[in-house]
Amino acid sequence: MSEMLPRDGAPPLDEYVPSQARVLETRELAPGIRHFILEFVDPGLNKAFSFCSGQFLQVSLLGIGEAPISICSPPTKSDTFELCVREAGNLTRALHRLRPGDTLWVRGPYGQGFPLAEMAGRDLVFVGGGIGLAPLRSAIDCAVCLNEEFGELTVLYGARNPENLLFTDEYDSWRQQGRVEVIVDEAPPEWQGRTGMITALFDVVELKPANTSVLICGPPVMFSFVLGRLKELGFEDKDIFISLERHMRCGVGKCEHCVVESFYTCRQGPVLSIDQIRGISSALR
Ligand SMILES: Cc1cc2nc3c(=O)[nH]c(=O)nc-3n(C[C@H](O)[C@H](O)[C@H](O)COP(=O)(O)OP(=O)(O)OC[C@H]3O[C@@H](n4cnc5c(N)ncnc54)[C@H](O)[C@@H]3O)c2cc1C
Ligand code: FES
Repeated sequence: MSEMLPRDGAPPLDEYVPSQARVLETRELAPGIRHFILEFVDPGLNKAFSFCSGQFLQVSLLGIGEAPISICSPPTKSDTFELCVREAGNLTRALHRLRPGDTLWVRGPYGQGFPLAEMAGRDLVFVGGGIGLAPLRSAIDCAVCLNEEFGELTVLYGARNPENLLFTDEYDSWRQQGRVEVIVDEAPPEWQGRTGMITALFDVVELKPANTSVLICGPPVMFSFVLGRLKELGFEDKDIFISLERHMRCGVGKCEHCVVESFYTCRQGPVLSIDQIRGISSALR
């Protein structure tokens, strides 16, 4: 198995102390959503930084705030890391104003990512909704880069409308390694793609549940529909991994903001298998 696929979440650079990072490039991906390419100001940290797809950073601006943001670049890419940020409140609004050369602070990486090392040899299906494609993009790019480690790759992606589809310029490179199927809730008449619910995409691809792992990230409203369809197709809970979003503060299991019944989303998640959260009814809300 490739050493590029860590089995566990990599240890943070420093559990509590943020490091300064500089914006190298930023662009608007969709209305209200920006993509950032960053590097650590301390060049030694760029080499020391390692993470798993699905892990997150606590991103902050002094005097404004801090929030968890998933890393959207693959762990196979060194020297820089990338974030995709939706404008939601004070911090993310301020992040959107940053331009190349500006700096922000990050601590992490935190949490458990997608266990790609354990998925070696299997087909992978990525199911993304809206900005949920961001952490999945890290895993997709990683699987594309290490394609000999995996079977077939299938990306199923849904967004509100065509304008909101993220990373559209990358689908062709993903298609060289597998399938990419896209659907939108609503579209103008000139849209030539599919319209409807993301579950409709399961009707246009052929999957082999016994040898396939599923990676899901999207709005909670999507989960029950997608999980229902996966069940009908014969997927087992242990092969389905979902990234959960919870309000967080510390990111390191101390403040209890992210607690869902018996688990800490920041430490034991954000990625959990359906097996792990079986019986915890509030986990998927
Ligand atoms: C593990 C994890 C990974 C994330 N990855 C990303 C990412 O890659 N890109 C991205 O843009 N956002 C991501 N988020 C969400 C992001 O952390 C929140 O949108 C964050 O609160 C924005 O901070 P703010 O100060 O700008 O807005 P705030 O003022 O904190 O919040 C704005 C609005 O969002 C609501 N909100 C805050 N936190 C959450 C939450 N965790 N879940 C649902 N609603 C919330 C608030 O109630 C409020 O209505 C992630 C969250 C988690 C837990
Ligand atoms: S965010 Fe503080 S315990 Fe999880």
